[in-house]
Amino acid sequence: MEPKRYLITAALPYANGPVHIGHLAGVYVPADIYVRYLRLKGREVAFICGSDEHGVPITIKARQEGITPQDVVDKYHTMIKNAFQKFGISFDIYSRTSSEMHHKTASEFFRNLYDKGKFIEQTSNQYYDPEANQFLADRYITGTCPKCGNESAYGDQCEQCGSTLNATDLINPKSTLSGSLPIMKETSHWFLPLDKYEPWLREWILEQHKEWKPNVYGQCKSWIDGGLQPRAVSRDLNWGVPVPVDNAAGKVLYVWFDAPIGYISATKELTPNWEKYWKDKDTKMVHFIGKDNIVFHCIIFPSMLKAEGTYILPDNVPANEFLNLEGNKISTSKNWAVWLHEYLEQFPNQEDILRYVLTANAPETKDNDFTWADFQARNNNELLAVLGNFVNRALVLTHKYFEGIVPNAGTLTDYDKEVVDEMATVRQKVEKNLENYRFREALQEAMNLARLGNKYLAETEPWKLWKTDPERVKTILNLSLQITANLTIVMEPFLPFSVVKLRTMLAIESFDWMRIGNINLLPAGHKINTPSLLFEKIEDSVVEQQINRLEKIKNDNLLKNSDVKEQLPNITFDDFSKMDVRIGTILSAEKVAKTKKLLKITVDTGIDQRTVVSGIAEHFNPEEIIGKQVSILVNLEPREIKNIVSHGMILMAENANGKLEFISPTSEVKNGSTVS
Ligand code: MF3
Ligand code: ZN
Repeated sequence: MEPKRYLITAALPYANGPVHIGHLAGVYVPADIYVRYLRLKGREVAFICGSDEHGVPITIKARQEGITPQDVVDKYHTMIKNAFQKFGISFDIYSRTSSEMHHKTASEFFRNLYDKGKFIEQTSNQYYDPEANQFLADRYITGTCPKCGNESAYGDQCEQCGSTLNATDLINPKSTLSGSLPIMKETSHWFLPLDKYEPWLREWILEQHKEWKPNVYGQCKSWIDGGLQPRAVSRDLNWGVPVPVDNAAGKVLYVWFDAPIGYISATKELTPNWEKYWKDKDTKMVHFIGKDNIVFHCIIFPSMLKAEGTYILPDNVPANEFLNLEGNKISTSKNWAVWLHEYLEQFPNQEDILRYVLTANAPETKDNDFTWADFQARNNNELLAVLGNFVNRALVLTHKYFEGIVPNAGTLTDYDKEVVDEMATVRQKVEKNLENYRFREALQEAMNLARLGNKYLAETEPWKLWKTDPERVKTILNLSLQITANLTIVMEPFLPFSVVKLRTMLAIESFDWMRIGNINLLPAGHKINTPSLLFEKIEDSVVEQQINRLEKIKNDNLLKNSDVKEQLPNITFDDFSKMDVRIGTILSAEKVAKTKKLLKITVDTGIDQRTVVSGIAEHFNPEEIIGKQVSILVNLEPREIKNIVSHGMILMAENANGKLEFISPTSEVKNGSTVS
């Protein structure tokens, strides 16, 4: 049965940085497509989002930049909100969790559960930084992940393996505030006893929602099967919604407790009639999220809603996998991303290209890769060559032959009828995919209508018939224009900006979704406007520029993240070929008396057996290096060191721990072999 109305939420982005293509592909573009589709069908929808402004990432950012947490969220909230708006993400409201309405709503929600006795209060030992005088919640603590060995896992999560952690699980915990070793200190917190909700969750998700995407269902199942534990919903922190009970000074709601309540507060801000969205069983609620949010939206938030008792639960939680960028994981801290606000500046009026690419290549069932080459190819070979080209030909020919007036259709040929039949199947195909959150396939099917149009013109060749059979040309162009008008409906969820342009060219208003397939959208005699190009070619230079930018970031990161020395000025090949480096075998080695660092080494260089003095005594015992093959610069001017003449230099490299290693062949070679 059709629901009465829809409540669509998109994960609230953290206001500690700008939004990038990973966020867009995972959450906001699919959510927007879905909502635009529902609106075209005349459904009642509320599309809700806002900034997630609490939590440790915000306070850490503030500390790094030497500003207040409020400054941080003000800056990024504005930036994110504007970028979404320019990009055509059509939220009905974009709110924020530092708002008064949210503090009140979240506070009341907690108090309600507290009064109903839904929490357990527990005193436990938590990590505390004695230098910074602060408990180390979540990201204030790092250490080694007990599951995968990642050395920079956070107190709440390991980003490498995706495990959710407790700070006390970490091996070698370190405070991110002072770097010092944290101590244990007693503190008390409120916990939501998720274990009590386990039988209900098992029934509700594992039995009643088998249709959820496999990645979502699978994660829920493994959480539930793993045994749910009580989960702390408060933190010792001075940024967030204060815990609304006596004697809770210095404690705030855990960010993952307050943030999803942000969906409720934003709906309240949108309309005084908000309860119909949240408390009427005939509302269908859908949460669009990324895969790192699954447990919070499928297990914790629903348990909170269930505990409260008067709210509806999500009908579906379509979570996407991650989008990579040019083969590497997107990373805010490494600046490895395409930022929405930068894209909008660099590609003005080209919002739809990015929307298209992110949908065509959406990480729906597995992680996917965004590349600039693919971006260019999809624009040039699909948007421009298929959609733009068809529309342009239909409109230009109408102007050429009929002064921009839609001609009458005569009798349809069998081929025309085939095309009309094909058109009639498009709506259902697109719809079925959209209803099941398969946005890539939905887009494919929508594009097939443009492909059909292209094929129709290519096969009927009206330009060849104009002289001999103008009546037939009328029919062909009438049908082509009807396909074009159909495209303005079916493409609207995916390419809203291009569709506005196309409607202006056709001089039409928007049509209801159900009219897709109709071949009388444009009446004969209707005058269309002069066409302009819907899409423009993206040149190689544009793509190169973007790739160069990423190359530079990669190099900057390499330099930053290691103490690798900068490259020396270039030398000529002649300079290089003056160096004579050979492979030789160490025959004997002994410490040079009265020195700490020096070894006197005899090497068989293939040329001769010679003495070399080398400063490696702190790294090797003489005995352990005898018999090793090493690289040696043999034509270095002999030098006297501690009364010994050294005839060359053994080449060394430093490993990650600062220990020296020989440059040795991986299998034995002849002594005297040149290294070049
Ligand atoms: N800020 C979170 C993230 O970016 C998402 C919060 S969604 C909400 O991962 F439901 F909690 F609001
Ligand atoms: Zn891990």
